[in-house]
Amino acid sequence: MVKLMEKLTHDIVIVGAGIAGLRAAIAAAETSSNLDIAVVSKVYPVRSHSVCAQGGTAAVLREGDSYDLHAWDTVKGSDFLADQDVVEFFVRKAPEEIIVLEHWGCPWSRTDDGKINQRPFGGHSFPRACFAADMTGFHEMHTLYGKAGEYGNIKFYDEWFVTSIIVENNIVAGLTAIELRTGRMQVFRAKAVIMATGGYARIYEFTTFSHTATGDGMAMAYRAGVPLKDMEFIQFHPTGMVPSGILITGGARGEGGYLINAKGERFMKHYAPEKMELAPRDIVSRAETTEIMEGRGIDGPYGAYIALDLRHLGEEKINERLPLIRDVAIKLSGVDPVKEPIPIRPAAHYSMGGIHANIKTETPVAGFYAAGECACHNVHGANRLGTNSTSDCLVFGAVAGEEAAKYALSNGFREIPQEKLAAEERRVFDEILGSEGDERVPIIRNEMRRIMSQRVWIFRKGDELQNALKEIRTLKERFKNIRVEDKGEAFNTGLVAALQLDFTLDLAEVTIASALARTESRGAHTRLDYPKRDDENWLKHTLAYYTKEGPRLEYIPVTITKWPPTARKY
Ligand code: FUM
Repeated sequence: MVKLMEKLTHDIVIVGAGIAGLRAAIAAAETSSNLDIAVVSKVYPVRSHSVCAQGGTAAVLREGDSYDLHAWDTVKGSDFLADQDVVEFFVRKAPEEIIVLEHWGCPWSRTDDGKINQRPFGGHSFPRACFAADMTGFHEMHTLYGKAGEYGNIKFYDEWFVTSIIVENNIVAGLTAIELRTGRMQVFRAKAVIMATGGYARIYEFTTFSHTATGDGMAMAYRAGVPLKDMEFIQFHPTGMVPSGILITGGARGEGGYLINAKGERFMKHYAPEKMELAPRDIVSRAETTEIMEGRGIDGPYGAYIALDLRHLGEEKINERLPLIRDVAIKLSGVDPVKEPIPIRPAAHYSMGGIHANIKTETPVAGFYAAGECACHNVHGANRLGTNSTSDCLVFGAVAGEEAAKYALSNGFREIPQEKLAAEERRVFDEILGSEGDERVPIIRNEMRRIMSQRVWIFRKGDELQNALKEIRTLKERFKNIRVEDKGEAFNTGLVAALQLDFTLDLAEVTIASALARTESRGAHTRLDYPKRDDENWLKHTLAYYTKEGPRLEYIPVTITKWPPTARKY
């Protein structure tokens, strides 16, 4: 069933309309009003996962704080896997982004004297998280979307699902996408493409992430020959609300919340006596898991959990600083944090890894850029600090927009070979939608999530990773025998789910293969069989290249500028 594709042409196509994608669009539009820019998203922009960011955006704004301190916190938090030149650039640019959002109308929470307020956050040694109550991402997104609407040269393609990027002779030529309203696949020709599609935490069962977080952009880049970097490093957020997994912001601990075990003890004193609940996430999540594994979790209908106690903050402060989490705790866990602790445990939250990109957001493919969570510019290393993510989306979103604009102003369009388009149509409409097998998407998806949650979680072991890899490969085989029940054209969500599952299976495979190879413990990657960090052999980034047989791994060095690795204590 090969359909006729129409061609749409834009100088720059940005895939994804979250914070990074919108910031990139604005930066490109500001670089030149002659550029024709498209933003393609599988959802309406203000439904992108970035709206779920709660606690804040890190930036140095105050006396007493400094770029070096923010950089040092980030490098130490990363367990020394961050590239320090990129971190130094990042911390200098972050304050500019806060101010620019301020000028565009972002309703930051304020101090009594009218300044942008900042709260403490895990792993930061200064209160530098700028926030808008506990809906920071929501307000940043609405500010950016409103601003993007002011430019006549940004066109939005909402509810279009991108299926592949087209690369010819290592130069980007465009992409293919399905208009979900009609079910038609079309080709976008572009001089430059920016991938800003977010993370892939939906490979897990218990996650803070939206159902849309399926890593499409990472998988498309990988299949097009761009390596994925450091994919073994998945962040588990210490406070996923039980049973939904919905995020309870680290800002709740920043405002003074306690973590309590079944004995009523603030157990973090045993794991990070100085920082306590405000230690970095890898340490807090391991501590919670240890408490639960050693029988000090609190029994509940959905398994043992840890209590996040906010009662001592009082109703007024909770309503002012944490209104969203009070609302979701009442509605989705039946718990009012003013009166009772919130049941939480670690939830898959973020991928430190992603599309291999440099400080300018360039990938190894000319004209192809990556920003936001789908990218890995080496800022977060083996463990990201909370609130460095939205700063990263803003800083590198802006860089990607500017760099792609410069590129598009001095390069032409490339030809797109018909056979590539025909092959993509066959893959989507014949091999996936047309397949009449007896496997079902939700079954394979649940299996994948079970495998990842049981064997590729916070504590990992070589034999379990090996088994997980085998099992994911079996699922990939089973996927070939899929059947999507809905064969219709308009809003075929069954087809979308199948395409997303296909992408996530690749990403799960890369994650496991990278984790299996890394025989050390660093940041969020904890190997029970290799419990120590091993700088002699593993102070390096993993690159995973697509091959038909599975990922091929290579390694590149970490850039150290000022801070040689030391013991990491909090
Ligand atoms: O806890 C939070 O509010 C999440 C912040 C982040 O992931 O940066």
